[in-house]
Amino acid sequence: MMVRRATITGLGKYVPPKVLTNKDLEKMVDTSDEWITTRTGIKERHIADNDVPASELGLKAAREALQDSGLTAEELDLILVATVTPDMLFPATACIIQEKLGATKAAAFDLEAGCSGFIYGLSVAASFIESGMYENILVIGTEILSKITDWEDRSTCVLFGDGAGAAVLQPTEKGGLLAFDLGADGSGANTLYLPGGGSLNPADETTIKEKMHYLKMEGNQVFKFAVKRMGQASLDVLKKANLKPEDVDLLVPHQANTRIIDAAAKRLNLGEDKVFVNLPKYGNTSSASIPIALVEARENGLVNNGDIIVLVAFGAGLTWASTVIEWNEGEK
Ligand code: ACO
Repeated sequence: MMVRRATITGLGKYVPPKVLTNKDLEKMVDTSDEWITTRTGIKERHIADNDVPASELGLKAAREALQDSGLTAEELDLILVATVTPDMLFPATACIIQEKLGATKAAAFDLEAGCSGFIYGLSVAASFIESGMYENILVIGTEILSKITDWEDRSTCVLFGDGAGAAVLQPTEKGGLLAFDLGADGSGANTLYLPGGGSLNPADETTIKEKMHYLKMEGNQVFKFAVKRMGQASLDVLKKANLKPEDVDLLVPHQANTRIIDAAAKRLNLGEDKVFVNLPKYGNTSSASIPIALVEARENGLVNNGDIIVLVAFGAGLTWASTVIEWNEGEK
């Protein structure tokens, strides 16, 4: 019997043009290029203009992914947006993008799993395709973290950036998305969160005065979780796909901190040439980080048909997610 899986048939990305360097940050808070570089690996990040919402970045990445796949917007069955910075709490940013794209046939909803959101999104899309419910799905990760960043808090403001990435998924009979490993540990919910504006602390003068509309993070706690989970989730998903670390051609990890990425690579015993890193240019773009990295890895000739590629992420929740792809673009 033929196996019906999902595969990626198109990719796109967009980052806003404005760049904020570590040197710029030195003028804003008590930090240094040296501290940021050695502790995180980040050199600069892209920042959206004030009047630009996350849907705008997502729309641009989506158009590129559709063009790359050869599909038209009208052919889409579903648009799924992973984001922690939606345009509004509702309606879903996916619906805003659906309208702007002209994807009139597509269902649309948002998914929130922090920086693991894009891989969570791929898993949902893959399940819809494997079940036969849908044929053509667009998964977008889009973030404007600069708007939920406290620019006076040096422990967080140096870490994040804005951007979007997108992938088109379609059915395949060979290769594609082979396995997923998803998880969550809600006991870490209070280590990375945005307290204000929801039903717990509705937006009012107090939430603004107490800066509850900005992201809060216990960096150390998140760091420990990430170091442990990124390696483990990569090993677990390889096992599910009946593969071994030595089968991996490329690891595309969530781009948050080079020390976290190095720990994951070490756990899999992968050399530098098998780990894609673009963190220095973008910082942590949350759910957009993996698709942006995948686009750039392909541009660099590191993603070829037949390759075994592992995507892995961790994020707010706390959550983790990984997938193994046997790349087979254009070979449906
Ligand atoms: N510049 C200079 N000094 C700083 C800065 C800064 N920007 N930020 C913190 N420091 C200081 C601290 O105040 C502290 O000083 P002290 O020792 O006098 O108290 C010192 O540097 C060390 O601080 P630590 O927090 O221990 O530094 P650490 O090595 O843990 O690095 C970091 C901090 C980079 C935040 C790290 O913990 C990390 O990367 N954590 C994971 C964060 C992450 O990836 N979050 C995103 C999750 S994804 C999502 O869903 C959005």
